[in-house]
Amino acid sequence: MKRKLITSALPYVNNIPHLGNLIQMLSADVFARFCRSRGYETMYVCGTDEYGTATETRAIEMKKTPRELCDYYYGEHTKIYDWFHINFDKFGRTSNEECTEITQMLFKDLDAKGFIKEHTNSQLFCPHCNMFLADRFVYGTCPKCGSTKARGDQCDDCGSLLDPVELKEPKCATCGSTPVVKETKHLYIDLPSISSNLDSWMKKASIEGRWSDNAINITKAWIRDGLNERAITRDLKWGIPVPKEGYENKVFYVWFNAPIGYISITKQLADELIQKSKPSFDWKSWWIPSESKEAEGKDEVELFQFIGKDNIPFHTVIFPCTLLGSNHDWTKLYHMSSTEYLNYESGKFSKSRGVGVFGTDAIETGIKADAWRFYIFYNRPEKQDYQFTWKDFREKYNGELIGNLGNLINRTLLFVTKYYDSKIPEAPVDEELWSKIREHESKITEYLEWADLKDAFHEIFAISDIGNKAFQDGEPWKTRTENPEAAAKLIHNLCYMIKDLMILAHPYMPQFTETILSYFGKKINEPKYGEASVADGLCWKDIGCTEGLSSVENPSVFFTPLDQKTADAFKEKFSGSQKAREEKNNKNSKKEKKSSEKAVPVLAENQADFFNKNIELIAAKIVKIENNPDSDKLYVETLDDGSGTERIIQSGLRPYLKSEELLGKTIVLAANLAPRKMRGIESRGMLLAADYKDASGADKVEPLDVSWAKPGTKIILAGSDVNAVKPQEISADDFFKVQIKVVNKTAEISGVKLLADGKEITTVHAVNSEVN
Ligand code: 2FM
Ligand code: ZN
Repeated sequence: MKRKLITSALPYVNNIPHLGNLIQMLSADVFARFCRSRGYETMYVCGTDEYGTATETRAIEMKKTPRELCDYYYGEHTKIYDWFHINFDKFGRTSNEECTEITQMLFKDLDAKGFIKEHTNSQLFCPHCNMFLADRFVYGTCPKCGSTKARGDQCDDCGSLLDPVELKEPKCATCGSTPVVKETKHLYIDLPSISSNLDSWMKKASIEGRWSDNAINITKAWIRDGLNERAITRDLKWGIPVPKEGYENKVFYVWFNAPIGYISITKQLADELIQKSKPSFDWKSWWIPSESKEAEGKDEVELFQFIGKDNIPFHTVIFPCTLLGSNHDWTKLYHMSSTEYLNYESGKFSKSRGVGVFGTDAIETGIKADAWRFYIFYNRPEKQDYQFTWKDFREKYNGELIGNLGNLINRTLLFVTKYYDSKIPEAPVDEELWSKIREHESKITEYLEWADLKDAFHEIFAISDIGNKAFQDGEPWKTRTENPEAAAKLIHNLCYMIKDLMILAHPYMPQFTETILSYFGKKINEPKYGEASVADGLCWKDIGCTEGLSSVENPSVFFTPLDQKTADAFKEKFSGSQKAREEKNNKNSKKEKKSSEKAVPVLAENQADFFNKNIELIAAKIVKIENNPDSDKLYVETLDDGSGTERIIQSGLRPYLKSEELLGKTIVLAANLAPRKMRGIESRGMLLAADYKDASGADKVEPLDVSWAKPGTKIILAGSDVNAVKPQEISADDFFKVQIKVVNKTAEISGVKLLADGKEITTVHAVNSEVN
């Protein structure tokens, strides 16, 4: 049992993270949760990357000190990560004393071993501000494309990387004066001298740690092209002081100290625990085990790092060189999980332009954190970029999360409450079913051991698929009376399958799975570093166990479907840059104040929610059928609706169906429609039927048929509460607000299936059509 040290790339702290940035932290969170559940000693650290010119210039822009800016954004980041339930052992900062201490220590090591070089070069100096101008502190005309908005390090218009001295007509970004070229000294890390160590380390580590091809190729290319010395100092104030004479006005380059942040944040946790008089630990036991008493006799540490692809060389070349060049035996990268980009609608997520769904936006949508987590892992951009679109979000969320996993849970648990008085029926283990399940379960564990998060996640849905199929084929709504043992066996085994699914999916969707497990009276045991275990909590070793569940208490629905209108509204709302959005909001709020109108709700009400709140559908059997004498279209149908009293409705089906085609059928009735008189006779409800055209193109109608359901059975949307109380009466207008459709021969609303007694309602003729 190796100890697992887990990191995710430290986010810059000068703005709000978007979904693309969140992937790394969420990924490491899933892996860390898995490791804890599996029983590995686990440490997951992350924190904000606070130094650098971007922070310093942004602070100037916002008329704050860099420290104030970082404090503010550290708070904002923390709120977002909390909302997403990212369970860091420590989310720290690079601007603390631990980071200074360890960065300076590593620098001194490297210097003592001769791996630090000094070079003099020419740099722009602002006489007015009395300082050298680093990267973004100068702007001017791009020597390549002539743009007048080039920054010292880069021209955004043509994309060229620049050296500030190349700029034409340079200006100091702080005061606007023209800088002069002056000689100055900087320190460099001598990567070429360390590179032979790097090469042999990399060859071994990449095999043992199964690096991705991508990571191996990028690293080899760096080594092949010959490593250069890299400057590690900058002329800034906001940064870690360089402990060397002559460098009093300089600080370390942000990329030199950022990865050291992983180490220093671990130390930050250890120091905090001491301050809180809690049992603390020796940070070296994780990072330099050979120098820690505490690590004696302990297992080896494996370092798993989660990063975006643009950060690969920093983690496979530069940071390892810093560690290899010092005279300590540091824990170095074991396995790296790097992802490609997540793009947004037709373009890219962009922090600088403010395009995309940002952490704060995700919170504002009212869509649950676990739904976002679901979407991100279901589509995690592992081998190629992935495009977030609202359409895709809706389809996957409604179809797979609610339609597959949610549906299985819902129909099974409702069956237990409804037909077994909430007690899970006693029954033998279904070995055939479990042999299939176990195969997928061991695959999931294998995948997760190597942080193959997406593959493992898809396996979870494959299990759920098996469960739904078993339910569908087992027809418990029939066997319950015809073959009670078979029904009990199915439901019993499905309950244990759901328990397993919740343990397996817990790292991905912690709140959802904990809620479902709570219906079984169960908890998860997944303690953070140094925390006590949850007594009787479930963890990875409980997967496959088919004992210990007894009842299901008050289950309810966790995820509500997202309808088309709402998804469209989100697409519109989050289009354009954040700045443009802000301006739009400001304008709107000014308008509102002026006209003192009530604020218009931004979002159309979700159709599925509207259905759940208002419309009552039940199964009803046609027991008698006559013609309305005053009409050539209307049938007068007498129904058994399970209430014990007959109910009369009318339907305009005479042109389409003979009365014997309808008599005896169990149909879907809109039961709480306000009564309405038609040609002299009152109709108390409406039966639902799908339109279609036959081969000759003639209009046809097919009533929805729920022959398996007892009259009075409520028909609900997958994942919703069968016991929900609906209004006694609703208007026809309200009824028609909701579009019921047949999609691929199955009835649904906004992508969510209608269920009668847990079974989907399918059609024979109508393939894709409207239901009226
Ligand atoms: O690219 C980035 O967002 C950097 N802040 C990542 C730093 S990762 C680590 F090395 F600190
Ligand atoms: Zn100046």
